[in-house]
Amino acid sequence: MEKGTAIRGNFFHLLKDPWPLIEKESDSAQFIKDGLLLINDGIISGFGTYEELSSRLDNYDVIHKPDHLLVPGFIDGHIHFPQVRVMGAYGNQLLDWLQNSIFPEELKYRDRDYATTAAHHFFRALLGAGTTTCQAFTTSSPVSTEVFFDEAIARGMRVIAGLTGIDKFAPDDYCISPHEFYEESKKLIEKYHGLDRCLYAITPRFAVGCSEEMMQACCQLKKEYPDCWVNTHISENPSEIRQAKEEFPDCFDYTEVHEKHGLLGPKFTAGHGVWLSNDEFRRFSHAGAAVCFCPLSNLFLGSGLFRLGKAMDPDQPVRVCLGTDMGAGNSFSMIRVMEEAYKVGLCNNTMLDGSVNPREQDLGESERNKLSPYRAFYLATLGGAKAIYLDHLIGNFVPGKEADFVSLDLQAGQHALAWHQQLTCLDGVPSAIDEAVELLFGVLACGDDRSVSETWIAGKCRYQSNDRGVE
Ligand code: GUN
Ligand code: ZN
Repeated sequence: MEKGTAIRGNFFHLLKDPWPLIEKESDSAQFIKDGLLLINDGIISGFGTYEELSSRLDNYDVIHKPDHLLVPGFIDGHIHFPQVRVMGAYGNQLLDWLQNSIFPEELKYRDRDYATTAAHHFFRALLGAGTTTCQAFTTSSPVSTEVFFDEAIARGMRVIAGLTGIDKFAPDDYCISPHEFYEESKKLIEKYHGLDRCLYAITPRFAVGCSEEMMQACCQLKKEYPDCWVNTHISENPSEIRQAKEEFPDCFDYTEVHEKHGLLGPKFTAGHGVWLSNDEFRRFSHAGAAVCFCPLSNLFLGSGLFRLGKAMDPDQPVRVCLGTDMGAGNSFSMIRVMEEAYKVGLCNNTMLDGSVNPREQDLGESERNKLSPYRAFYLATLGGAKAIYLDHLIGNFVPGKEADFVSLDLQAGQHALAWHQQLTCLDGVPSAIDEAVELLFGVLACGDDRSVSETWIAGKCRYQSNDRGVE
């Protein structure tokens, strides 16, 4: 039998949703000091304390990480592969930003060499940020979609992606006809869906860019391939929403565009949802559909503040993942996403305070808006996996799941983090769960990709911070 890999160190992961456990959040998670993670063929075969499991080590190479905190790999629920070279573009809100900065760049991804070089940068940046799974947009070019999947396969990563459906609101040579989109999507699904760790998402870009015929093509694909995911954008920006209503006058609201075409349901994710109405939240909950909260992007493009507390309503909970939405999000770092999500929660609570309550939010939202470290790391790992219907495969250290994880350097050479650490524990390593989450809040508040020391994909170390710039 081939030798396995055993990681010895300090582990933190989530086991269930912390939102309902207000007083006893720690019941949602587990911290193991001096634990052991056993890995065979990329799958977790054992997890517990070193003491419990050390008798099983005969056929394992043991790697010891006593100074770090090991957490499950981060899941980025919404990111754009072809925007890696235009991240952080100056000056505009969504619709002008797309026209001026994004479509001209995405057009270049018809060229296989250009796309391949970009894919190399993109996946390296993901790994450097500790992201082990992403749900990604490619472009309207099948070439870019193939390149994306091929690079993911080379790195052993679990990904969800698909050809972008867009037949208006973009330059003619960027648009794809509904017929071609349908035919090319079928070929890509047949080739990549279920190949290695790749999964396919039928991807209508957004209602403003999709004709009725394009939405029908998506509807037909979902009927023929019900096992596929669906990935899109929804209710991100007020001008976009106005335009979407003009394009689909029969639909009462944005969500109805997807309901009408049979897309809203399990395995459906829509990025943003900043301006969803209470009734739309209810319908997302009922359908088992997910919203991806992308605070970096929502702030960078000035789109607005997502109502996380509304999504987490216990009477009608909506599945939520976190996403960078890079390039509208100005970082690959899910740690920075957690930071901004925390700030958005507090800003929403200012809106709830006193007489300023333009969205008629109910007061229960206020408590649920607050992103504790348990809640933040839940959304970036197990909760994100649940939102995209992958929690049977990834999201925590439960045996049987794929061994994707991150080794966090709790100091990462940053003064502010060192300060958090001094307050929390003496030797720099937590000894109990309260200390671990205190330190994780320090990482969230003051850290970024410098906090990521190593990233492991299916039991293989694919990134080390001291390798920066190397393959
Ligand atoms: N809506 C349609 N396309 C995009 C995109 O590329 N980024 C964002 N943030 N929103 C979109
Ligand atoms: Zn996006």
